[in-house]
Amino acid sequence: MSVNWALPFDEKILPEDKRNLLSIEEYHKVHRASITSYQQFWAGLARELEWFKPWNSILDESSPPFYKWFPGGQLNASHMCLDRHVRTGRRNKVAIIWEGEPIDQDGPKQVRKLTYGDVFHEVNRIAHVLREKYGVRKGDTIGLYLPMIPEFPMIMLAAARLGACFTVIFSGFSSDSLAERLIDTDAKLLVTADGGYRRGSVIKLKEIADKAVENAPCVKKVIVVKHVGNEVEMDSSRDAFLHDIIRDVPQSTFVEPEKVGSEEPLYILHTSGTTGRPKGQVHDVGGYLTLLHATMRWVFDARDSDVYWCTADIGWVTGHSYIVFGPLMEGLTALMYEGALDYPEPDRWASIIERHRVNILYTSPTAIRAFMRHGEQWVKKHDTSTIRLMHSVGEPINPEAYRWMMRLVGRDKVPFGSTWWMTETGGILVSHTPGLYMVAMKPGTNGPPILGIDADVVNDRGESQKPLERGFLVIKNPWPGMPLTIHKDPERYKEVYWTRFPGNFYAGDYAVKDDDGYFWMLGRADEIIKVAGHRLGTYELESALIQHPAVAEAATVGVPDEIKGEVPVAFVILRSGYTSNPALDRELHEWVRERVGHVASLKQIYFVSKLPKTRSAKIMRRVVHAVVIGKPIGDVTTLEDEASVEEVRRAYLDLKKEIGV
Ligand code: WT7
Repeated sequence: MSVNWALPFDEKILPEDKRNLLSIEEYHKVHRASITSYQQFWAGLARELEWFKPWNSILDESSPPFYKWFPGGQLNASHMCLDRHVRTGRRNKVAIIWEGEPIDQDGPKQVRKLTYGDVFHEVNRIAHVLREKYGVRKGDTIGLYLPMIPEFPMIMLAAARLGACFTVIFSGFSSDSLAERLIDTDAKLLVTADGGYRRGSVIKLKEIADKAVENAPCVKKVIVVKHVGNEVEMDSSRDAFLHDIIRDVPQSTFVEPEKVGSEEPLYILHTSGTTGRPKGQVHDVGGYLTLLHATMRWVFDARDSDVYWCTADIGWVTGHSYIVFGPLMEGLTALMYEGALDYPEPDRWASIIERHRVNILYTSPTAIRAFMRHGEQWVKKHDTSTIRLMHSVGEPINPEAYRWMMRLVGRDKVPFGSTWWMTETGGILVSHTPGLYMVAMKPGTNGPPILGIDADVVNDRGESQKPLERGFLVIKNPWPGMPLTIHKDPERYKEVYWTRFPGNFYAGDYAVKDDDGYFWMLGRADEIIKVAGHRLGTYELESALIQHPAVAEAATVGVPDEIKGEVPVAFVILRSGYTSNPALDRELHEWVRERVGHVASLKQIYFVSKLPKTRSAKIMRRVVHAVVIGKPIGDVTTLEDEASVEEVRRAYLDLKKEIGV
């Protein structure tokens, strides 16, 4: 496979602050040294963390790919994020500035500012009741299904304090998806809220959680955070409000942070794929925090005086790493916003930057494209000149979006990059690192791999590609922050990531390197759909569809979307006796939303009588996708019935004509 690729444009931008500017050649030299002795290199960074007990060895490589970083070492993530700071002047520094979504002409109705001292006390009180009242300890997993409120990170930190594992389920997932993840992790306790605000309406989380818990018998108790104040049903033998159970716990309560092994799990977070159930990525403590510590400094150039804002939701890995653990570990002031960035007006995000004097912004291409569509007059209403550094994440950033954001917020001079990583990697691996060395920026690139990370672009046979030849992204050495395994399925962990190119981690992304050795990630090489930067498995959508009595078979693929990058559409074959009609169409849309969650809205359903399949009856999503995006369908020697391709094309084009999509 040697598809040649051309730079979308050849533009290099230098930041105004050139203190640590390096030529790319110099950077590669330093980088080479860092990967030659990568274990020593990472150990040097890990030493900057506070350990209760030093490690026995840097890396346990005895049973690859199940690498263990800093085995024998003991630490605690909650201690790292809190205790360390409250001993110093940071006790009275604001740790979290929280802004709720509801707003009127006088400003946001709810803003909370919590100091490191406040968060410390609250986390200790919560940890106390989790342990004393609910018996939560090391070895247990608790589930979190919460809106973006300060209790969210505090409960994560309380679990970590006890050495318990937690699993977060994004609040846009349905009760079925929630139940599936709770069962997979044997969660014994679920923490949720009465509701959360989103675009002016209330999402009734407790109701959804109740349905999930009915189907997840492992969950014995439910704690409810009162946030919206809506009426909720409480089962007195199972449910309790957080404020009730901590009311009598004194402010001064101290829960000794559990000494947790570096290689023990901190959390499990699910990602979806094209086959099989969502994969629970298990992240460790020591390696994970080491990578976060390094990237907070290098990528975000975090300084004590900064107000740092990551616009993600804690429900995704971006929020775990770069709203909660990364910034709090570094003692920053992190901003947390509950709602939609363009609600009630398109300037909400810019008003937040102005109101809280945000210095560092971490956002997504989808968000930027939405801002762009509303027009620049909205940004210009606010003073965003406090921003001194920006990054985006989640999907490739198109040059137009990059330039727009760079001009209007970056004033064409601040460092602005596109950080590549994934749920599996725990933290950023390929990115500009303005806090360490700055090399020239190129709109749309991810930049070179960070120090200590040996990444490459390879062909089918695993051989290094030449510059500008497209290939597959691999990571060639173990890195701190890597998963321990897939929960309950180590074989699958091996097979999905470590089998295609033995000894290397296969990321599933297409990529190229340019002549300067910068990486450009080009999108997924598998059939995963990326909606607004979030991975959405075709498996979940399709299995929801075929559960409907009218549906015999279904294939879902992503189609390009101006704002969200990609959105899912479905091709459906109905069972005999059913015919397509608008009511059924509506019903299927609703059916999928109910089963997977509002993250999974299908843009369109196409009814067909056949789908392209291999002779062994496997649906060829790749072919469906090619037809939909108007690309050549490639090698179809395994295709069983060529007429199916024509039928998919016709269904797609007919509807396009009819409704103009
Ligand atoms: C996939 C991982 C980790 C944060 C959020 C996404 C794509 C991520 C970039 C970027 C191009 C990117 C890749 C990757 N991706 N960041 N800066 N440029 N592509 O996490 O849901 O686990 O998805 O997101 O395709 O494999 P995720």
